[in-house]
Amino acid sequence: MSTGVVIVAAGRGERAGSPERGPKQYRLIGGQPVLRRTLEAFLNWPDSGPIVTVIHPDDQAQFSESIRDLPGAERVLSVMGGATRQESVLRGLRALGTAGPHHVMIHDAARPFVDRSLLQAIAVRLHEGHDAVLPAVAIADTLKRSSADGLVEATVSRDRLFAAQTPQSFHYEKILEAHEKAAASGRSDFTDDASIAEWAGMPVLLVPGSAQNVKLTTAQDIAMADAKFTGNSL
Ligand code: CTP
Ligand code: MG
Repeated sequence: MSTGVVIVAAGRGERAGSPERGPKQYRLIGGQPVLRRTLEAFLNWPDSGPIVTVIHPDDQAQFSESIRDLPGAERVLSVMGGATRQESVLRGLRALGTAGPHHVMIHDAARPFVDRSLLQAIAVRLHEGHDAVLPAVAIADTLKRSSADGLVEATVSRDRLFAAQTPQSFHYEKILEAHEKAAASGRSDFTDDASIAEWAGMPVLLVPGSAQNVKLTTAQDIAMADAKFTGNSL
């Protein structure tokens, strides 16, 4: 049973600031573009099938540069993304084709530290017959809800609360159908794929994510990721 991969890399990285330095997925960490490191993780996992990278039309040169001389790059296809993450994922899923893979892993380009053991653990649960598998980590911090004026309104129980990671992984045809339905219904506000699966009535299995598998969102996240390679203190 083949496992296709969709890597979404068409965002603009607004929360990372400094637009003159380009979108975060092409910034260097340890001397390599973030996206190259993300792709490497999947290319080095022996069970990965075709890989579709969803990119922004303005980034074609940066994309080519970031995969130059990457072993296995011939297995990586690129397609153009959309205005929202949801739309970019749908375009990536469609590009995997109607004779597509049995399963698909959908991953944020901005999570370069995904590792082989997480991919393997997710694949095991897919092969057991789960149609939707979500890596997530239990919330460790105490949670507060604020009122409009910035005061604490309540302390929220963190019991059974998790932070969702990627790769969120699915039965290919079922998640494609759920995405198509969500788009046809006019919904464009889903921020991850598990929530589309939930909306479509698919049971979603939680599996332990990895503390390393952070999403690079802010400039500080990128600096911290770079420091892991260079050993520099911030
Ligand atoms: N993404 C995408 N297409 C979009 C928006 C996001 O492919 N229209 C991708 C991003 O490139 C990223 C992933 O979805 O790899 C997760 O999104 P996020 O971390 O929010 O990235 P950005 O949208 O680029 O950042 P920001 O929200 O700060 O602008
Ligand atoms: Mg975003």
